[in-house]
Amino acid sequence: MAATIIDGKQAASDIRAEVAQEVREMQAEHSVTPGLAVVLVGEDPGSQIYVRNKEKACAEVGIKSFKYELPTDTTQEQLMDLVDELNCREDVHGLLVQMPLPKHLDPTPVLLAIDPNMDVDGFHPVNLGRVVVGNAVLPSCTPAGCIELIKRSGAEMEGANALVVGRSNTVGKPVAMLLLSENCTVTIAHSRTRGLPDICRRADILVAAVGVDRMVKGDWIKEGATVIDVGMNRTGEGLFGDVDFEAARERARAITPVPGGVGPMTVAMLMKNSLTAAKMTLSSN
Ligand code: GUN
Repeated sequence: MAATIIDGKQAASDIRAEVAQEVREMQAEHSVTPGLAVVLVGEDPGSQIYVRNKEKACAEVGIKSFKYELPTDTTQEQLMDLVDELNCREDVHGLLVQMPLPKHLDPTPVLLAIDPNMDVDGFHPVNLGRVVVGNAVLPSCTPAGCIELIKRSGAEMEGANALVVGRSNTVGKPVAMLLLSENCTVTIAHSRTRGLPDICRRADILVAAVGVDRMVKGDWIKEGATVIDVGMNRTGEGLFGDVDFEAARERARAITPVPGGVGPMTVAMLMKNSLTAAKMTLSSN
């Protein structure tokens, strides 16, 4: 039987509606509106689109967005000063610096300078550490979006064999730790892994995050598996994931499409994290 297609656009819209409701409650009960500051340095067209989508989502859910567009020739010191200033603003609860930065800027000190309790991207080592110890207050958005889609698809996670293909700090490692917190038995595979097809064939839950066009073949999918495809590979033929979707859907129980699967979840989870960051300031006052 062909798989259920997991509708990430719908799930993301549902999450935004849930966040919007909680924002209204926070305004009514505490007279506080969550605020998200987004810093964009330079003119990367892809980043400009991402930032615009974040602003649009903020407007939809009632989060106040503050956009800081800095010129390409911004110095490290100027960027660090802005982060320090935003860390201290009463009306800003979440703060992110859009990546990638222009080549002359070092992202590491910038990420380290962000107050971990405002780090709505979940990129600060403190937040990665919280994910590892099972206290994922501000998990990074794409990994958290993967977990939401798995849960909302109705997959059994307790004791399931979960395989993550890919070991990046932004997706592979954190999603593996989040799956572990859900009591999955977790395997991380990567470019040096031997016998990947057979490892895939044992996976009840497969998260593909390698960035290689349709690398995971249909006959690598276990019958009845839940397949989450984080890949976004632009090719001459169009946009494809890391999984051969058309073949995999014949064997999977549920599978995310590309586009329209994990992609829309990232910004929805950013809204959720921004709400969480605002909630943290209420409980610490
Ligand atoms: N660039 C691409 N994705 C992201 C993201 O999720 N956050 C930030 N800050 N930059 C990005």
